[in-house]
This record gives sequence, C-alpha cells and structure tokens, in this order.
Amino acid sequence: MKENKYYLKCTKCDYITPDFGEWFKQNQICPQCGSKHSEVWYNSDYKELPLIMKGHPENFWQYFYYLPLNNRENIITRNEGAIPVQRWKFLEDFAKENYGLEIEVHAYRNDLNRGTGTFKDVAASLAASIFKEYGVEQYCVASTGNTATAYGRYLSIANVNASIFIPENALKASEAFISAYGQQVFRVKGDYTEAKKIAAEFSKKYNILISSGNIDPIRVEAKKTMVFEWLRQLGKMPDVYIQAISGGTGPIAIDKGVREITSIFPDLKNPRFIMIQPDKCDPMVQAWEKAEKANFPEGFENDYPVIENPQTAVPTLATGNPATYPIVAKLVKDVNGTFLRMNEDKLVDYAKLVAFERKVILGPASAVCIAGFFEALKKGSINNGETVLLNTGEGVRRAPEFVEQMIYTSKEVSTIDECQPHKIDEYRQQLWDAIKD
Ligand SMILES: Cc1ncc(COP(=O)(O)O)c(C=O)c1O
Ligand SMILES: [Zn+2]
Repeated sequence: MKENKYYLKCTKCDYITPDFGEWFKQNQICPQCGSKHSEVWYNSDYKELPLIMKGHPENFWQYFYYLPLNNRENIITRNEGAIPVQRWKFLEDFAKENYGLEIEVHAYRNDLNRGTGTFKDVAASLAASIFKEYGVEQYCVASTGNTATAYGRYLSIANVNASIFIPENALKASEAFISAYGQQVFRVKGDYTEAKKIAAEFSKKYNILISSGNIDPIRVEAKKTMVFEWLRQLGKMPDVYIQAISGGTGPIAIDKGVREITSIFPDLKNPRFIMIQPDKCDPMVQAWEKAEKANFPEGFENDYPVIENPQTAVPTLATGNPATYPIVAKLVKDVNGTFLRMNEDKLVDYAKLVAFERKVILGPASAVCIAGFFEALKKGSINNGETVLLNTGEGVRRAPEFVEQMIYTSKEVSTIDECQPHKIDEYRQQLWDAIKD
C-alpha cells in the first residue's frame, strides 16, 4: 500500500490517526486517551522545502507537500497566506531615537490576505479544502469574529453549511458578512465562553463537526506556514514575535512549524514571543504577572483568572476564559518571552499613527499589536540588534466604526473663506504625541 502523505499523532499518548477522514469519525479526539490535541506529521521529503521557498507563491498552497490534503483538486483558495513581510522603518527610527536601539522591524501584513483580510484566512482555506476532500456537509464554529467571517466565506465556496456562533458583542460587520454569504449566524446572548458552550451543544445535538479551537490541527497546520514564509522572505527567523493574543493559535503554530523542519533547519528556534492583550480583557497578562512575581512556581501555567463578560473595545480579543493559557504560557516561558497589556483608550491613536506613516489602515486587533511594540520597548523587552516581527492580524474591512474613529483632519465648511491648503507633515507631531503617556 502507498504510504499516506500525512498522519495525526496524539501529543499525549502518540496514538496515530491515519488521516482527517478517520479523525472526523473519531469526533476529533484520540480514541486511546481522549485528548483533543493531535498534531499532523508528514512523510513528505523536507529537502524539497528550501527549493519550494525559492518560488514566488500566490498563496500558502505552495507548501502543499506539507499540508494535510491528498488531492490538489480539492484546494479552495482565494489567495491567502503569501502576504508580504514589510520593513517598517518609522518604528526602527523611533526605537533608535528614544531607546538607542538598532533594530529591524517588520510587519507581516495579514490584512492583505485576499480571503477576508485577516490571519484566519489560511485556516479557513485549509478547512474548506479538507472538508471537500471528505465530503463534510455541515460544520459549526464559535468565534469572536474573524474566524467566523473567514470560515463563513470559505465554507460557502466549498458548499459546506456552516453554523456560526458569535458572542453578543461581536462586530455587526462580522455578522453582516457571514449572513451575506448565506451562512447561518447565531448571535448568542452572552460572552465568547457562552457562544462556545452553545456551539458545543449544537454540535452534539445534531452530530455536526465543530472547530476544536486553538489546538485544532487544521488551524495549526495552516498557520505554521508562517514560519516557512518568514524563512522565504526574511531568510531567517525573527528574534522577537509580537501578536495580539486571544486564544493563542499563533505561538502554538509557530512552535509546530519550527519542530517540523528541524531536520533541514537544525538551528531554527522559536522567536521570543511577546503576547499583547488589551487592558479590558487581559486574563493571560494577569496570570503571567502573578507567576512572574512568584518566580514561576511548578504548575504556574495552570493558574489563570477568568474574566466574565469582558468589556473590551476589541471584540475579536474578548476571550475571557483563556483555556489555552497552559500551553501558550509554557511556550512563552521557554523562550523567555512575556505577556504585556496595552491601554485600550489609545487604540485609535496607534491606528492613526500607522495610517499616517505607512498609509495602511489596520483593524483594532492589529492596533493592539502595534501598541504592544511600544510597550515592549518601554519594558525593555527588545534588545539591540534584534529583528522584530509584528503580526498585524487584520485589516479594517469589518470594523467600519473603527475607521470612522480615525477621522481627525475634517473641517465643516460652508464657504470658500473657511478653506485653506494644508501641509500634511504638520499632523505628524500631533500623532506621535498622542501615543506618549
Ligand atoms: C486580528 C487578530 N489578532 C489576534 C487574534 C488573536 O488570535 P488567537 O485567538 O489565535 O490568539 C485574532 C483572533 O481572532 C485576530 O483576528
Ligand atoms: Zn492519545
């Protein structure tokens, strides 16, 4: 018999599940120990990877040999996951002038993903393709907004019926997009924890597959290709990785990607993870600070608070019950990383600054990431000579009210006498001053 392209292996007991068809039949758990956490491994030849990296990809399917799909004909793509890593010099200059640091700062432009403009597009593309391969007809997922929208779009393209559970405070625009694609939206009266609970009950009641969250091997496999892309574009792994965190698929997937390719890149290491949360929903930061004060006692990763009904202005990041903290905190500790909070009141100021300096309009969760860069500098978490990568996870497409908050140059006029020409550079100081404490 021909060797399978890939298989899933339980992270707890090493049980092997031959493919996603079986994995779905097992209800996405290990039949031997009951764990939900399996990882995908490949029989593909990794010597090909550096050659593949020399290409100019349209999307992350360039890494087909290292993605869990057997037949290329099942690929559902809208050109996602081959987005640029851009050098953002204005942030380098700031670090030099204010902290004397010579660093490289890059932004990984997930807002340019052509599916829905967030870093959830790759997972949705892979999920839709796998569902097509196995004839999955119904699926359900709970999400704070971006996964919801991405799955809403890609699963529609694959003709999979998606029931999507969003919390009460999710952005109206997320709901609108999913609904417009024709997928079913359930806006749950309650927070994300409640939405997840009802989605799980729905999945059980109707025997419908459900996304298993941040350790979902589909999401992890899609996102691990970030590592391949950084190697392709930067030629190295960044020293520091900054991301707004809610559940934490990012660091989990990066770690998986690094472990997967050690045979050909033996010196490759995880970057120092700097994870950012808004101050109105910061359970991971609270847990981390407590652990740090106590010098990281044995089992520190299992001690975290739950914030009921978090009232953050960034609904995408409103995970009040950070169930994946135990996994993420360990990864962060291993690389000497940290969790930092940002001041939500300044969210729009950070977005305005980027819009001015780069002419890039970011979404609110991405503004949290940018704020995290400034926090990291303030806390001394970035060292001289380092390469920093900011994972800007979303564009602003689904947060129109956020863009509206960025209006600051308008004047209401009724006669020509009230209109004068302006000099754009005069706004610069005002924008930089706004992000200072
Ligand atoms: C733009 C953006 N940034 C950050 C996050 C947090 O990602 P994770 O839940 O994988 O931690 C999300 C999640 O929805 C997001 O959409
Ligand atoms: Zn197991």
